[in-house]
Amino acid sequence: MKGLILSGGKGTRLYPLTYTRAKQLIPVANKPVLFRVIEAIRDAGVTEIGIVVGHNGAEIEEAAGDGSRWGVKLTYIPQESPDGLAHAVKISQDFLKDDPFVMFLGDNVIQGGISTLIRDFANHAWNSQIVLKEVADPRAFGVAELAPDGTIKTLIEKPEHPPSNLALVGIYMFDSNIFKAVHAIRPSKRGELEITDAIRWLAENGYVVQPHVHKGWWIDTGKPIDMLEANASVLDELVPEIAASAEISGSDIDKRVTVQDGARIINSVIHGPTIIGEGCVIENSYIGPYTSIYHHTNVRNCEIQRSIVLEHSDISDLPSRLYGSLIGRKVSLTRRDLKPQALTMNLGDHSSVQLV
Ligand code: DAU
Repeated sequence: MKGLILSGGKGTRLYPLTYTRAKQLIPVANKPVLFRVIEAIRDAGVTEIGIVVGHNGAEIEEAAGDGSRWGVKLTYIPQESPDGLAHAVKISQDFLKDDPFVMFLGDNVIQGGISTLIRDFANHAWNSQIVLKEVADPRAFGVAELAPDGTIKTLIEKPEHPPSNLALVGIYMFDSNIFKAVHAIRPSKRGELEITDAIRWLAENGYVVQPHVHKGWWIDTGKPIDMLEANASVLDELVPEIAASAEISGSDIDKRVTVQDGARIINSVIHGPTIIGEGCVIENSYIGPYTSIYHHTNVRNCEIQRSIVLEHSDISDLPSRLYGSLIGRKVSLTRRDLKPQALTMNLGDHSSVQLV
């Protein structure tokens, strides 16, 4: 069994963060989503993994390297343009050969790992296994309708009128028959070769596609709100740990807090689940539940809750609590006391600010 991670695409829904960083490298609970995907595949016993990369391939390769730190072998597969998930499979044929494989979208986060799924696939004569999850509004996803006997009746990508509330999770298992399908289908209305169409082709041509309905949480981290949601779900399950090298003085830290190497927490209150990254300084501040502060960021005289702050940022003296926010790298956010009393902003394209 091999692994295939899809880490190309543009990530436009996460602008402006994704102008300068691949969306799969944005951390959730201080670990890039892509690293979580690699670990989930490795934990299921799969060590030969291909990563499909697009325009930010160099950045992804620099971050993940050859995979030895996880005990896996990573092979990078460049995709010239994001022509769809089935196109990504097509260009990976030389790497995958005739082996069965698990394909995992590099921006998906799922509860509970994939070991059971991989074991079930290995133990049955299925040509494909897909993962489904009941969601409130499935219009942004591939959607499956099941027949009364539990087999697949329809599969459709981002339907305006969904036939069910079962969304396709970005985890798929295939044998080599998938290559017949990706060569047979045509681009969709949005100009992409859709994996949903390829799977429907398999089902319609007599191949066995086994659906599995996932009961735990699953998040596609496409939009800022999804990043915050994924961050909260992962923090909820994180086993808290205070690094021996962390320095804590005059502070009240509750038990669901993780403090990483060399972080300093001074005269502050931290309520978990929360993670404070390596080398951060938190001073005279309140960090509330569901917050992740990535490494080497300084927070002084501020309150922050349910937010993600990336590395090397400086946040100080804010007049109100920062909530539900996604703050990039090397961001400086502060209050100014000079006259005229005004808001002074230097925001990148597609930034969004809400003031109270
Ligand atoms: O997250 C689950 C959904 O993922 C499924 O329900 C949909 O059926 C499936 O089409 C897909 O929809 P998205 O619109 O969320 O896909 P997105 O364009 O965000 O791409 C998913 C991942 O695949 C992301 O990490 C980028 C990567 N990708 C995407 C394209 C289009 C590639 O590597 N190459 C590509 O050509």
